[in-house]
Amino acid sequence: MLVRLKTPEAVARAAAAAVVESAFKAIHEHGEFRLVLAGGRTPRAAYALLATELREEIDWRRVIFYFSDERCVGPDDPASNYRMAREALFDPLKLQGGAVHRMAGELAPGAAAADYDAEIKAVIAARKPAFDLTLLGVGGEGHTASLFPGSPALEEATRTVASVTVPADPPDRLTMTPVALGASREILFLVTGQEKAHALATIFGGGDDLPAARVARLGPSRFLVDEPAASELPESPGRN
Ligand code: 6PG
Repeated sequence: MLVRLKTPEAVARAAAAAVVESAFKAIHEHGEFRLVLAGGRTPRAAYALLATELREEIDWRRVIFYFSDERCVGPDDPASNYRMAREALFDPLKLQGGAVHRMAGELAPGAAAADYDAEIKAVIAARKPAFDLTLLGVGGEGHTASLFPGSPALEEATRTVASVTVPADPPDRLTMTPVALGASREILFLVTGQEKAHALATIFGGGDDLPAARVARLGPSRFLVDEPAASELPESPGRN
């Protein structure tokens, strides 16, 4: 499903509201909320809203955080997705320790991927769906998490996490595979900016089977997009 919004701020607000709604449902149903965080720049504003205006809307003691991907850098590196989430969400909420399951970007990629794979496999074995909500972004060429077009990790059928080398900076990454991304009650894509317009038009126009399109078919998914990102979308009944 596609939801068109005017501005990046409106996308952030809608995303934060969706997290609150999903958290309420999950905590009500099973006493905890398992949230997979997206990296990159786009989700930062939504995280900041959750940590400020909406902080009273969620019982943060019952939230368990995971990451959909990470750059192979240390947790204090400016390129670290964990650092972005720490600055925008964890630190303002004074969240530490056990509830935050980060990918160890500072370790050797193979070892870090194997460690997180074991952790995610245990979560998937313990509860279905394993995750209540997974947040993802979309890149200009249609990648999501660190699953880029042509990546062997897209074909992964057993490992939940893989180490990959991507045509972006930094190139070495850890990423959830479709095995883990498909274990979520819902996937929410946050997509803003003109540079995403062609990929979005391809995803919804039925062109090349881009990674984001393939991941979106793994289960219930929603795209929150702003006007510039939606600017090349074909007129279609699914557009609202
Ligand atoms: C990453 C992300 C990646 C991101 C897209 C969009 O680590 O970079 O997980 O998949 O979501 O590249 O990035 P922006 O939000 O910065 O445009």
